[in-house]
Amino acid sequence: MAELLEDTVAVVTGAASGIGRAIALTFAEEGADVVVADLREEPREDGEPTHELVERETDREARFVECDVSNTDDLESAVAAADELGGVDVMVNNAGIFRSHEFLDVTEAQYDQLMDVNVKGSFFGAQAAAKRMVEDDGGVIINMSSVAGLSGSATFATYCASKGAVRLLTYALADELGPEGVRVNAIHPGLVETAMTTDDVPILGTETEEGYRQTIPSRRFADPEDVADAALYLASDMADYVNGESLVVDGGMTNT
Ligand SMILES: NC(=O)c1ccc[n+]([C@@H]2O[C@H](COP(=O)([O-])OP(=O)(O)OC[C@H]3O[C@@H](n4cnc5c(N)ncnc54)[C@H](O)[C@@H]3O)[C@@H](O)[C@H]2O)c1
Repeated sequence: MAELLEDTVAVVTGAASGIGRAIALTFAEEGADVVVADLREEPREDGEPTHELVERETDREARFVECDVSNTDDLESAVAAADELGGVDVMVNNAGIFRSHEFLDVTEAQYDQLMDVNVKGSFFGAQAAAKRMVEDDGGVIINMSSVAGLSGSATFATYCASKGAVRLLTYALADELGPEGVRVNAIHPGLVETAMTTDDVPILGTETEEGYRQTIPSRRFADPEDVADAALYLASDMADYVNGESLVVDGGMTNT
């Protein structure tokens, strides 16, 4: 059977760990060469670096590029690394950070850090990739939003603001880049088991875990692979007429 991403090159930010790591591996299993763009090489959850895993488990090429997505020069370097593999076809703006703060206590520095990574990182990641895609024969951009980009929650004002911005960035880019052959979509995961939900804002592995599980019709948290499969669909030609869309991957949590 033909691979879904045969002869394509993908750049995945934040792909050292968690969801981005699963996306990089899933894409390579379906025929894509991948650039892993991250602050760090080692996964947060331990294990071998993603680019080494990809090359060991698949017949595709993978490169690691040290990249802080809040730095536009670093984003340019990540996309330039894809040039060496044939040029970026799929850009996944996945890198993000998750913090919980009481709204009345949020400092300007905390706000700026979250916006710089989650919003600016997606904005200029999309721009760096789109410059190539518009000149070549189009492409696909996937932005990682969240269910927090669809509805608001107490103590997550900054995160919700950032992921809501990513959602509308996605729709605006779909409108502007669609005529140039570039599709732009957002994924909105619910609770995914990664270091983000075990360490940064501990939910999984705590006494609140069961209460959260009961709010999910599927009665389980997502694995990174659940989100990677959604990204694979959006990246592939199966989603050729899906543009400016939000794909919610939350086990039914948001709509019930
Ligand atoms: N885990 C969840 O429940 C969940 C739910 C909804 C949305 N998301 C979103 O999914 C994305 C991935 O989250 P995850 O759960 O895999 O988190 P994670 O912490 O496991 O992995 C995030 C990766 O991004 C990298 N990163 C952080 N800041 C960066 C920066 N400035 N530049 C480059 N890389 C950077 C980290 O080094 C890490 O490798 C994020 O955008 C997150 O907001 C996660």
